[in-house]
Amino acid sequence: MSTQSPLSDRVAVITGASAGIGQAIALDLASKGARIVLNARRAERIDELAQRLTDQFGMVKTNQGMRPRAVCVPGDASDDSTIDAMLDASQDHFGISADLIVANAGRGLDGSVMTSDTNQWESMLKTNILGVARLIRKAGTQLLELQANRDWQDHPADLVILGSTVGRHISPFSSMYGSTKFAVNSLAEAARRELGPSGIRVSLIEPAIVKSEFQEMAGYNPKSFGQIMDKFGPVLTPKDIARSIGFIVTQPASVHLCDVVIRPTRQDYP
Ligand SMILES: NC(=O)c1ccc[n+]([C@@H]2O[C@H](COP(=O)([O-])OP(=O)(O)OC[C@H]3O[C@@H](n4cnc5c(N)ncnc54)[C@H](OP(=O)(O)O)[C@@H]3O)[C@@H](O)[C@H]2O)c1
Repeated sequence: MSTQSPLSDRVAVITGASAGIGQAIALDLASKGARIVLNARRAERIDELAQRLTDQFGMVKTNQGMRPRAVCVPGDASDDSTIDAMLDASQDHFGISADLIVANAGRGLDGSVMTSDTNQWESMLKTNILGVARLIRKAGTQLLELQANRDWQDHPADLVILGSTVGRHISPFSSMYGSTKFAVNSLAEAARRELGPSGIRVSLIEPAIVKSEFQEMAGYNPKSFGQIMDKFGPVLTPKDIARSIGFIVTQPASVHLCDVVIRPTRQDYP
């Protein structure tokens, strides 16, 4: 393992890679040598990113010859069939199992239990909670088998999960979204306790405000969000989150930064 390419023997699976934090994670991990499986529902976006990753960081050597650095699995990350296809894609395309899984796909929702759009509750819960739980279950099963058959101290395995500061501190202003991140935070910590003893790091990343497509998707009022940005700014960028994740997964296998809160310096709450 060279210091320039510390992830050159690893495959990362990233859900929600067509925008924002997921896209930035793909670029950061590929810059460290990783091969990447990209997922999101907008196929054309991940196709473009896959091409960019190969152009920028080069083809990769596999047991079937040289291959593009990234492969795409479009679809809903909370569907069992998409999750199976993402995990299979690593073997099929690169000839090795993925051992760096990033549960990033997710969405926000403006408003509280009292005021948010009830028509969006089920789809948000499916993406943000069930999608993450299903990925932990399926990827966790695969990682357990992988670690049982190799020396974990020479081969780190990572499950990185995007929580949020609103999954740690109650924000009445986006309480339905916050409740999904409370669930994610608890799933991540439980998985860490269950999988850590087998040499699998489960890392929870809890960002505060990151400027991305998230705000528009959640339906935040641009005027009031603009005021928050002015108060707390400069707010975080997707690259800020990706850089921290890149640091965590390149630590020695016996070192685990398991629970990381990242805020813009001036954001006092949440
Ligand atoms: N931005 C923030 O302030 C902030 C703060 C804390 C935590 N987070 C968390 O960070 C993660 C990424 O957020 P972001 O800021 O990067 O948001 P973003 O810019 O809106 O990107 C969200 C990504 O998730 C994908 N996605 C959404 N639902 C999906 C589904 N069902 N299946 C597959 N992909 C799906 C979207 O792609 P498609 O539409 O193409 O599927 C997109 O690539 C989320 O879990 C979010 O809750 C964000």
